[in-house]
Amino acid sequence: MSGPFAELVAAARAVRTRSYSPYSHFAVGAALLGVSGRIHAGTNVENASFGLSICAERAALCRAIADGEREFTAIAVVTAEGRPTPPCGACRQALQEFAPGLTILLAGAGGLVEEWTLADLLPRAFTTFDGAGTSPGGGKE
Ligand code: THU
Repeated sequence: MSGPFAELVAAARAVRTRSYSPYSHFAVGAALLGVSGRIHAGTNVENASFGLSICAERAALCRAIADGEREFTAIAVVTAEGRPTPPCGACRQALQEFAPGLTILLAGAGGLVEEWTLADLLPRAFTTFDGAGTSPGGGKE
């Protein structure tokens, strides 16, 4: 692997070393490639209240949005597993909001990098709904 994707995987691997994961001991690094060419990296941050933990992919996404970038071409996700591990369902949905055409690169401990698309991993995604604002809870009635 060479070019921008190699740099992206390297950024995910580097940020993974900063993971705060004392409960699961499962450190994850993620790096998003914006259309600007900038890379936005994030890692998982856990909490004693387990449900508050945030995944690396969403940490990277929040960082990118705060950096002013909203369109992305690829994300690299790196763990130390023997096999590459794909993003959880919540992260797939969060990424779908900004980058339905995203390329997803998965890397484990070895050199193998799997390449997927978000559409592969989240077919028939929920995006929007008809009648927004017309339901009893929506305020227009
Ligand atoms: N985790 C991620 O960072 N990304 C995923 O897609 C799956 C899970 C994190 C959350 C938690 O800190 C740890 O891995 C174990 O679930």
